[in-house]
Amino acid sequence: MLVFTGAGISAESGIPTFRGQGGIWEKYEPESFGTLPGLGMVWLTQPQRLLEFIVEAMQTFLRAAPNPAHLAIGEAERKGSVRAIVTQNIDDLHERGGSRTLYKLHGDLYTLRCLRCDGRAKFDRSSVQAILNQLDQMRVGRLALLRKLWEILPRCPSCEGHTRPDVVFFGESLPETVLAAAQEEAAKCDALLIVGTSGVVYPAALIPQMAARSGALIVEVNNEETPYTQISNYSFLRKAGEIVPKLLGM
Ligand code: APR
Repeated sequence: MLVFTGAGISAESGIPTFRGQGGIWEKYEPESFGTLPGLGMVWLTQPQRLLEFIVEAMQTFLRAAPNPAHLAIGEAERKGSVRAIVTQNIDDLHERGGSRTLYKLHGDLYTLRCLRCDGRAKFDRSSVQAILNQLDQMRVGRLALLRKLWEILPRCPSCEGHTRPDVVFFGESLPETVLAAAQEEAAKCDALLIVGTSGVVYPAALIPQMAARSGALIVEVNNEETPYTQISNYSFLRKAGEIVPKLLGM
């Protein structure tokens, strides 16, 4: 079985989803906060709001812990019934839930990418917390904010270059090797368990179609109908934390 997850699997861990009631994009418009040019404009025009967005996101991710759905998927992989997980999420809850074979299509908040040599470096939770402590309660203008971010974001361990979180913003390409490997898994899986995604962001949203085309059994868990509901053999309109452990025999 291959598992394909979106923000909904982390909702019960306290990380808001992007869309729907209380979603991140309701409070922070995606064209500004989901794209690099948009973030640049927010930095220029409303630096304090950019700081609030960064602090709120870091606090939310650091507070979150794996919920029963993440743990059941990790356990099912250990037992051999789950072969791999393809996720659109940038949090660390699948890893902390025990998952090992993980394809992160939209990158990873806990990895830094060097702007000079394109190298990757781990951005562990304690480093994120240390930066959050420095940014929280700050009241800044844009130059002070830029200087502070340049100063406190860790440098590349290989070339000392400046770094950025290794996450995919709208308009950026997905990591090619990760996407290709995920598509290969989708094309050969016997069953696909889809958990907590609205299925509206491409090319990630093509994963279930690829599995369905190759004859896999499709099971969806979501608390609302989605474009995947009509291609699913079984669709459970339930919360992930409640039904995923049962489905995986935990
Ligand atoms: N259990 C199951 N499903 C849930 C739960 C829950 N407890 N809570 C919410 N959901 C469902 C919602 O009904 C919705 O269909 O999870 C889905 C979350 O959808 P989105 O917020 O659109 O998140 P996602 O599908 O992961 O978005 C894909 O869009 O903004 C970009 O890069 C971002 O990776 C993200 C991508």
